[in-house]
Amino acid sequence: MEKQQLMAAIVAESQTIDTVIGDDIDRLQGTVDPLLTEVLRYGLLQGGKRVRPLLVVLAARICGCNSRDVYSLATAFEYLHAATLFHDDVIDNADTRRGHPSVYKKFGIISAILAGDFLHARSMEIVGKLVGDEGLRVFCGATAGMVDGEFMQLRNASQLNLSELDYYDAIMGKTGVLIAASCEVGAIYGGASPEQRMALRDYGVGLGCAFQMVDDLLDYNGDQVNTGKAVGNDLAEGKMTLPLIIALSRADQADKEELEKIIASPEHREAGFDKVHRLIVKYDGFTETRHRAEEAVAKAVKALEIFGDETASAEKDVLIGLAYYVLSRNK
Ligand code: IPE
Ligand code: IPE
Ligand code: MG
Ligand code: MG
Repeated sequence: MEKQQLMAAIVAESQTIDTVIGDDIDRLQGTVDPLLTEVLRYGLLQGGKRVRPLLVVLAARICGCNSRDVYSLATAFEYLHAATLFHDDVIDNADTRRGHPSVYKKFGIISAILAGDFLHARSMEIVGKLVGDEGLRVFCGATAGMVDGEFMQLRNASQLNLSELDYYDAIMGKTGVLIAASCEVGAIYGGASPEQRMALRDYGVGLGCAFQMVDDLLDYNGDQVNTGKAVGNDLAEGKMTLPLIIALSRADQADKEELEKIIASPEHREAGFDKVHRLIVKYDGFTETRHRAEEAVAKAVKALEIFGDETASAEKDVLIGLAYYVLSRNK
């Protein structure tokens, strides 16, 4: 699929998703506190790529589902994602999100936590209503995985001897499982066979892990104007992402000591961004991370092979296009 066609398909679906979310918040008006609806509008309707809800729609469709209710199911995944972002920005001390002050910066920590909890509850209600117990099981597994991934990341912070495997465990938890669950629950809703369901989940795992690797690259090399969030936050927070893990594992003694000194202290981490960046370049940490992301995308695309070219080819093309888009994205 041509890039322009892909983008047009994505934009059209995202607009529908935005409309469904906007209508849902409108319906809430008057039934919940006005500050909550203000926070929800602010946090949900100002940007965001809508990757997870898009995956729900595409996964359901590739399995033959044409119901419009799939958009409501899709919003549940954006709600859970947004809930994790509201909370994540508190956890990560992140001032900017989607090009605006993060929810906790704008409304305070209490509003960010409560609005996240509200979205979490609402998302479970939607999934339970539309997909039942099995959908809820997968959905709640994604929440548990994210919490686990965040704890792992906490334990890994500023640790100098992490392996690539430690990193994969953490990103699988914090990002891979929700993206995989978007595909899997979309598949269940769409009436997938067990084989189709597994294929879509595997696609989501590969896509999700590549997505987080690229996010971690953008944290060093992105442009805030495009990403809508600050550059350099991962290092400042002591996050041991793959580019840094690779550089540490390959550095000679002098460079390793330099890196270790910077990682060990919050002040050095703030001031040492350029130095760390240069050392990651020197030891090919960015290039290698990109290779790993490419491998994960290749696995994702391979998982879709069970969907023959003749059936649901438009959805398959978009899913494949989306996987490659993840590699080239700058936001
Ligand atoms: C950000 O996700 C958090 C990660 C898992 C990297 P997105 O990059 O999908 O954020 P939005 O929804 O587009 O803002
Ligand atoms: C995503 O990781 C964590 C979530 C599950 C929300 P990041 O902390 O790298 O995400 P960004 O960079 O803040 O979007
Ligand atoms: Mg963060
Ligand atoms: Mg990040």
